[in-house]
Amino acid sequence: MESNKIRQAFLDFFESKGHVIVPSAPMVVKGDPTLMFTNAGMNQFKDIFLGNAPRKYPRAADTQKCLRVSGKHNDLEEVGHDTYHHTMFEMLGNWSYGDYFKKEAIEWAWELLHDVYKLPAERMYATVFEGSEEDGVPFDQEAYDYWKQFLPEDHIIRGNKHDNFWEMGETGPCGPCSEIHFDLRDEAEIALKPGREMVNMSHPQVNEIWNLVFMQFNRKANGSLEELPARNVDTGMGFERLCMILQGKKSYYDTDVFQPSI
Ligand code: SER
Repeated sequence: MESNKIRQAFLDFFESKGHVIVPSAPMVVKGDPTLMFTNAGMNQFKDIFLGNAPRKYPRAADTQKCLRVSGKHNDLEEVGHDTYHHTMFEMLGNWSYGDYFKKEAIEWAWELLHDVYKLPAERMYATVFEGSEEDGVPFDQEAYDYWKQFLPEDHIIRGNKHDNFWEMGETGPCGPCSEIHFDLRDEAEIALKPGREMVNMSHPQVNEIWNLVFMQFNRKANGSLEELPARNVDTGMGFERLCMILQGKKSYYDTDVFQPSI
């Protein structure tokens, strides 16, 4: 599938689920001293999540140009050394502003990946937040149970705060997250070591492709969490990673996103 069609299929899918398709925000952030460059699709919606601005619609989706070269999400040191990190990339995202929550976020992610893009279930793994005593946030049983509809339990992995609690920066909207990982390795390699042991181990062919964040807290400057006025969904899927998988490549650079320029 060509990259243009992959992108359009994402937008069409979420439009069919009642989302308004919105443009990518500029990569240079204006009016937010906590952030220099857009590092995630949710940045342009920060004030809506915080309750400082009214929502214009309950659901939206887009493809956001992101730059991760500084601050909390900095990929600069990885770029040029591997096949799957970039400073600039596109993030496909869908949002709920106090509308749907974990159930639909997980079910639609599965429907899109499995039924529309036809990714095989046996290559997919989901991670869920194991909880944090320090922050007073429990294990995410709800997300675990929704994933059980689609994946066997040995494909659902508990992750710590580093991997499964997403925060925009030192302060701001945040929440537990559930990531979908895909195992692109050859059968022979998989036979030697199952994918579940490779998730979050920085293997170039066992990658996170989509992060579903259940945005329900605001991290304050003193480090404490306060509940947001509403429970929101913020998802981000790596467009180039998805293209790599759907085009049967082992590197971003071999996809039609880059090959014409190269
Ligand atoms: N904000 C999350 C991320 O950047 C999901 O969109 O991974």
